[in-house]
Amino acid sequence: MLLCQVAVTGLSTMWPAAAVVLFLTCFTWTSAILHHRGPTAHTTLRYLLEPPVYAEVTARRGANVTLPCLLRSRPPHYKVRWTKVELLPHGLQNVVLVTNGHAQKVYGPLAHRASLRRAHILDASLRIANLELQDNGRYRCELINGLEDESVVITLSIEGVVFPYQSSSGRYKFTYLQAKEACEAQDATLATFHQLYRAWTEGLDCCNAGWLKDGTVRYPILHTRGPCGGDHLLPGIRSYGPKHKSEDHFDTFCFTSAMAGHVFFVDEQLNFMEADRACKDQGAQLARVGQLYSAWYFQYLDRCDGGWLHDGSVRFPITTPREHCGGLPDPGVRSFGYPDKTQRTYGAYCYR
Ligand SMILES: *[C@@H]1O[C@H](CO)[C@@H](O)[C@H](O)[C@H]1NC(C)=O
Repeated sequence: MLLCQVAVTGLSTMWPAAAVVLFLTCFTWTSAILHHRGPTAHTTLRYLLEPPVYAEVTARRGANVTLPCLLRSRPPHYKVRWTKVELLPHGLQNVVLVTNGHAQKVYGPLAHRASLRRAHILDASLRIANLELQDNGRYRCELINGLEDESVVITLSIEGVVFPYQSSSGRYKFTYLQAKEACEAQDATLATFHQLYRAWTEGLDCCNAGWLKDGTVRYPILHTRGPCGGDHLLPGIRSYGPKHKSEDHFDTFCFTSAMAGHVFFVDEQLNFMEADRACKDQGAQLARVGQLYSAWYFQYLDRCDGGWLHDGSVRFPITTPREHCGGLPDPGVRSFGYPDKTQRTYGAYCYR
């Protein structure tokens, strides 16, 4: 189980909003299951292979992936258009690539990383190089053939870890935009509902409500307890529903994935400024919170010493729980919150 709370000190900062909890709509996990309605569930496709070779592709940040889309037969004249399925204003579509079978053209933010695989003449699969966190999502491969347009949808899931994040000025301080920026500053993005849902199935239990990418505010509960939505409810993702993006304030759930560099620990008694210097002296930087989580999740970093991070917080990563390392029975990144920066009590986690 991954706890979101400040594990070692600062217990008073984790008290949840019991009053609001009465109005929660709970058990939102059902919406995860409803999501797989293919757009073509009841029609037989003539030109595209359906179901697609695989409906979901999973990969880490930095990887190259192929989203499969194969033609069953080749109409005389056609185009294949790849779009990312996203809610954009004014009915805009996020077109990634268009091909007429001979030439291809790429568009938008993915343009420099997208290409066609073209393994054979019926192959319209999309390749995306050097995956980034925000590539996560659903992609539509659409065959445009005059009257009989048809399409398949493939989900690209970035493999990674969700972590709760709180402002240095305390609990529930972020607007939606601030939450988004806070995640980005920690080498992460706002988590999606699906990412949070998956983290919940992997053991995330967190009694602080946080913003998600879709503008809703939720928190994942494994062990029901009074202050976290009530002890009469089943475990699940609690929801506050959509909130006002600029007037309401919460914590946030961030998502990060694998990274190119690695995190290492400087084992000295440093204040924050000295920690910053110690990393720079080694050609590195104080690690972002997302980088520490990534090192813990993907590189099994395990260290029983609190160290300064870039945001002024002090944390340590535990993959093999033991009695004298925070005492909690489950792996996780433990936090000392944001101590006084002049204290010479901790080491430094650096990223290079
Ligand atoms: C991804 O593909 C590019 C070429 O498009 C290549 O240079 C790079 O090494 C590949 N990366 C991985 C992780 O395979």
